[in-house]
Amino acid sequence: MAIGIEASLASVDPHVAGLVNRAGELQGTTLALIPSVNHSSSAVRQAVGSVLDHSYSEGYPGKRYYQGQEVPDAVERLAIERAKELFGVPHVNVQPLSGSPANMAVYSGLLSGGENRGKIMGLDLPSGGHLTHGAKASLSSRFFDAVPYGTDPEGWIDYDGLEERAQAERPDIIVAGTTAYSRRLDWERFREIADKSRALLMADVSHIAGLIAGGAYPSPVEYVDIMTTTTHKTLRGPRGAMIMVTERGLNKDDLMGEKIDRAVFPGMQGGPHINTIAGIAVALHEAAQPEFKTYAKQVVSNAEVLAAELRELGIQLVTGGTDSHLFLIDLRNNNGITGNTVAEGFERAGIIVNRNAVPHDEAPAYYPSGIRVGTPAITSRGMGEKEMLQIADWMSDMIHGFAGRKDRLGIDRKGERNGSNRREIANVRLVEDVRAGVIDLCEHFPIPDSYIG
Ligand SMILES: Cc1ncc(COP(=O)(O)O)c(C=O)c1O
Repeated sequence: MAIGIEASLASVDPHVAGLVNRAGELQGTTLALIPSVNHSSSAVRQAVGSVLDHSYSEGYPGKRYYQGQEVPDAVERLAIERAKELFGVPHVNVQPLSGSPANMAVYSGLLSGGENRGKIMGLDLPSGGHLTHGAKASLSSRFFDAVPYGTDPEGWIDYDGLEERAQAERPDIIVAGTTAYSRRLDWERFREIADKSRALLMADVSHIAGLIAGGAYPSPVEYVDIMTTTTHKTLRGPRGAMIMVTERGLNKDDLMGEKIDRAVFPGMQGGPHINTIAGIAVALHEAAQPEFKTYAKQVVSNAEVLAAELRELGIQLVTGGTDSHLFLIDLRNNNGITGNTVAEGFERAGIIVNRNAVPHDEAPAYYPSGIRVGTPAITSRGMGEKEMLQIADWMSDMIHGFAGRKDRLGIDRKGERNGSNRREIANVRLVEDVRAGVIDLCEHFPIPDSYIG
């Protein structure tokens, strides 16, 4: 008998069902402005939650270590073909379990590690790079040598400094990719710098893959050797990742794809999550539709409108704005109010953001001077310019309100640590008013089930 009808979660485990329902309720009544968060379609989630979860498929299509691979082979081949087509690359690995292992697999596949460990060069964490680009706390700097490049005082990538450092340090791989950087990367300049220092160039497009697929951000494919991406951010798929090797990469080393594949399996992982790979295939199919282009462009134009309006309202932004899906608010001129006070106050109002360091931030990492704001999820709900103006108003009122009341409320760094700031902020009338407005807005823009048709 085929498996089709499943006992419902609610009857088997009401506790977990309750938590899932609560998550749905919260997502439905708040605005997700964390740039890495998105709302995947129910088609993606059905694939992820399907019986494909029961597969065990170590190896690659056509060369597995297990029998019973008719469907896993077909699923993985489909995802690979769709990714090749969408991004215009000749080699794709869809097995990495997430973005961090994908990056580590590239390094371990192409660098020696161990004694003559290779050297990577990535944007440093406080300037907007990712942990896996060589941050101190990450294995990427423990297994390999890591040297950073950074930004100028306004927060723009310092390409001249990068070039100079690359010539001096001779890294094996330069990583062009960001987690909290609002401006377009200059792929051509990265290529020139990599060529001059004879380094491979890897783009980590985790944040912007959906924008690239939708034509709202220039593709690095013609300039780089390797491209990694998560699948769950602007690309709107399930949590997972892909590693791509470009024509350029294969021309340099025709075994590059194989080396990376071997680094993923058996190097770092065992069995791939075939259910997730099916979800990635669905997301790639959705991203190839004309509607996705409209979406990607709207994500960027929403971020531009939101940023411009905040600036108009006197809020300081790193680099003054954005040309992507995100930007950073710099709170340093707001009476000492910190990123976590604002983020927690916003949360009370139903606006979900994350605290973030700003370039050259002197505040401690857990109490940084900025917040990061992004538009992928609210754009998936169908919001546009009018809603951005409203959200900017709310955010600006709250930031100015918190900063203005700081001394009166006795908000200080100690309060940041023991949570009393949050309690004080919860009592600000303005937050309650914004919360009511956010609930109303959310009712008009429910989270869609499907993005096609
Ligand atoms: C640029 C970049 N690379 C890699 C990652 C890691 O992805 P994951 O959290 O899936 O490990 C992230 C996640 O935020 C990212 O922003």
